[in-house]
Parts: sequence; C-alpha cells; structure tokens
Amino acid sequence: MGIETSCDETAAAVVEDGVSILSNQIASQVEIHARYGGIVPEVASRQHILAIIPILKQAMAEAKVTWSDLDGIAVTIGPGLAGSLLVGANVAKAISIAHRLPVTGVNHLEGHIYASWLVGRSIDFPVVCLIVSGGHSDLVLMRGHGDYVVLGRTRDDASGEAFDKAARILGLGYPGGPAIEQAARKGTASIKLPRAWLKGTNDFSFSGVKTALLRLVEGDKVALSASQSGELPTRVDAAASFQEAVIDVLVTKTVAVAKECRVKQILLVGGVASNKLLRKRLVENSPIPVLVPELVLCTDNAAMIAACGYYHFQAGKVDGMDLDVVPGLKLA
Ligand code: KG4
Ligand code: ZN
Repeated sequence: MGIETSCDETAAAVVEDGVSILSNQIASQVEIHARYGGIVPEVASRQHILAIIPILKQAMAEAKVTWSDLDGIAVTIGPGLAGSLLVGANVAKAISIAHRLPVTGVNHLEGHIYASWLVGRSIDFPVVCLIVSGGHSDLVLMRGHGDYVVLGRTRDDASGEAFDKAARILGLGYPGGPAIEQAARKGTASIKLPRAWLKGTNDFSFSGVKTALLRLVEGDKVALSASQSGELPTRVDAAASFQEAVIDVLVTKTVAVAKECRVKQILLVGGVASNKLLRKRLVENSPIPVLVPELVLCTDNAAMIAACGYYHFQAGKVDGMDLDVVPGLKLA
C-alpha cells in the first residue's frame, strides 16, 4: 500500500511486486486551491485529514484486498508541506500498529522516479532521471535501486513553478502547467524568450524566462485583451513561446548529460512530464531510449510511492515508530 499526502493530492494505491497497479486512488484539492491561485498549506492539511480514510478504503476496495493481503505500507515523508506530510505519515504508522505491517518512509522525488517501474518496460541501469515537478527540476544519475547522484538542479524556480507563475502572468489560471499547454496549442512560439544555459553545469534556471515574460506583459508587448493591436503576439503565442523556451533547455541539457554519462535509458518523471510537447521533444531528440510514465503517473499519485516502497522492503529498509516527516528532504 502506498500513501501520498505531500502537497495537494490525497492518494492511496495498492501495487503488487513493485510493478503492477491493483488500484490508484487520488483525491485532488485543486479546485479548492484554485480560488486562491495557489496552494494554501493550512487548507491542504485539513483536506488531507478529511480525505485520507475514504481514499484508503477506496484503494483497498478497487484492489479487492483486505489488510491481511497487504505486505507493507510505504508513505511519503518529504519533501513537501509539513502539515500535509504529517497526515499521511501518522495514518501509515497507525495502520502499521493496528495491522502489524512494516512501514517504510519514501522520498517523494524517489517516488516520482519509481513511476517508471509501472510503465511495463524493463529498466537497465545506469539511467539519467529528469525529475520535473512543482518544486524540483533535477537531473539525477541512478546507478541502481536507491543509488542516486544528483548531477544538476534548478538554481531558482522549478520548471513546474515557472509554468504556474507564467500562467498567472498571462491570466491563464491555476494550475499553470496544463493551462499553458492548452493555450500554447492555439498559438505559435513567435516571441524569442531567453534561455539560461548555465554552460559547464547541469543546473537549470527558469526565473529569467519568467521575468522576461513579465516585462513583456507589463510593457504591453503581449495582447491580453481583444482591444489591443492586432500586430502584437497574443496570450496563446506568449504561452507557446514560454513553453518552447523551458522545454528547449530541459531537453538539450538532459540529452547532453545522458550522453556524457553513457546511460542506457532516460527516465522523464514528475508533474511537468505530463506535458505532451516535452515528452515528444525528448523522445525525438534523444539517441538514448526515453521512458515516460502515463499521464496519471507523472503527477502526484500513491502508486509510485508503493512501487518505490516495494524496493525499499526488498533492500530491508523498514522504519520504526520514530518515523518522522522531513519537509526539506533531499534525494542524495
Ligand atoms: O509532481 P507534481 O504533480 O507535484 C509536485 O511534486 O510538485 O507536479 C506539479 C507541477 C505543477 O507545477 C504543474 O503546473 C506542473 O507540474 N504540470 C505541468 C503539466 N501538468 C502539471 N507542467 C507543464 N505541462 C503540463 N501538462
Ligand atoms: Zn510530485
């Protein structure tokens, strides 16, 4: 059983042998937070408390299992919002005591990587993982189960965060990633926005492209309303240009580091990995095979946590009742 409550989705899933999904239940709070334009942590933890037991019951019903069918509980302990993580961690410990099941704490980013094991294809180490989510844009070399070397990370905004901020600048709503992707489909990437290549490093930076977009909007260089001149690029063109700039950097740097490390595969994971243009571009531009989970396994879910937990248990990683949340948890 996997449990995930690190941010704004309350999720529970049952996975068999680390690879087969028996159930994958997600209660999203997105509509509640949308009215504030972003996640309100206090509201998120209260919603997790309301949703967690029904979601656990649904996950067990969908998988047609009882407590005695389960071998262990895997729960996200970080990184994430402390109040949200605490709900999942405490429920996991309660189940562990009540049903005498071992519990293992999972790093949310490691969980995102393990969504790749639910794709149904074999994975050959070493691999390079591009983890792109609301809080992270990391390039990670994975040499075996649980063996990570962080090669690069964002120096400022994460790519998902940049999508969210760009959507806000363009008045496209929340969450920004899907909103930008949808708008971009109707536009052309006609605006040249800056790319931060940070040459000689595997790091990313997305605050520059976001600020460049903001300056264009503030300077009335983008037509946000119908009354503005027909000469200007429109909101959808700005969305397409922004998406293009972010994807260009993500794809170019990922392919370069994968070649340099002579890896066998590239794993594209995290919420931003559900972006169809990013998926397409990485596959098209990489001579190395790319594995991308289906959309529902890119954004936050508990099946990926359960899959990761399976490998923890295989490696003997069992936690005690002193298991605690670590909001700033790092991968390596
Ligand atoms: O992995 P995730 O669900 O949660 C975190 O761990 O943060 O990622 C959420 C992020 C948000 O910033 C959201 O805007 C972005 O993923 N996202 C997308 C798309 N769908 C979600 N970004 C670009 N294109 C998408 N289709
Ligand atoms: Zn996530």
